[in-house]
Amino acid sequence: MAEDSWQLTGSGPESYERYQVPSVFGPLARLLLRHVPPRSGQRMLDVACGTGIVARLAASILGPEGSVLGVDLNAGMLEIARRESPSGGAFLEWRQADATALPCQDAEFDMVLCQQGLQFFSDKGATLREMHRVLRPSGRVALCVWRGIEHSPCHVAIAEALRRHAGPDAARRFGAPFAFGDGDALHCALVEAGFQDVEVRVEVLERHLLPPEESVPGLLASTPVGPEVAALGEAVRHAIVEEVTEALASYRDEGGFTVPQPTHIVLATR
Ligand SMILES: C[S@@+](CC[C@H](N)C(=O)[O-])C[C@H]1O[C@@H](n2cnc3c(N)ncnc32)[C@H](O)[C@@H]1O
Repeated sequence: MAEDSWQLTGSGPESYERYQVPSVFGPLARLLLRHVPPRSGQRMLDVACGTGIVARLAASILGPEGSVLGVDLNAGMLEIARRESPSGGAFLEWRQADATALPCQDAEFDMVLCQQGLQFFSDKGATLREMHRVLRPSGRVALCVWRGIEHSPCHVAIAEALRRHAGPDAARRFGAPFAFGDGDALHCALVEAGFQDVEVRVEVLERHLLPPEESVPGLLASTPVGPEVAALGEAVRHAIVEEVTEALASYRDEGGFTVPQPTHIVLATR
């Protein structure tokens, strides 16, 4: 498995569902689906579904005539997706697979969704061609990929603190979700994979976080660097929280802090 395929282990998937889904991936999924509203009867695919927030929301909008398949590499993430699957709504199914070889037939889906997954695929071209293959003619793809880390003050602050306390490799791996942040490169990748009417939009998520002493440990625990930061001990954890608190002073509000986190939304047609 590629080192940067953003794999959570142990209690990571549980922390992800607890800290990241309510504060960022849930609101982001609602935003993504506003760009491509699911229509009754559609069959949809959620690639790199993680704990399944996009697939679950889509299923609740689609209604019983529709169906959604979620695919992810990580068995721990899929276990939570299964556990959290709502009853009612569209038929929901989960499969463990690599996005570069989707376990799906040609032209099987009306829509392919992928929220914050493309940046982790070792062969992005192969994965986009797979998405193209499994879409029916005129089917739609909708992807979400973060802009560069320099546009996300909270992640800049944490990455800087990590660089100081856990080293440059931990900081780099923490920043991996932001490593495919160039809108022109995204546009080119979809055109090269055979998509038409490619459109790259920018949306800014206002991310509301609890005070840093609560949110920063939770956020770190739900990323692949969580276990190694925990192993550095309480004093390092405290120093990281202090430094992030100081760096984000201008974003403080009553409940904690609110930071912008911009994303690209890429829409295209098969
Ligand atoms: C940041 S999470 C996003 C999860 C989900 N889409 C969401 O919005 O909550 C990235 C996900 O990509 C998955 N992933 C990374 N590389 C993959 C691959 N080659 N094939 C399938 N899933 C992959 C990881 O296991 C992880 O669940």
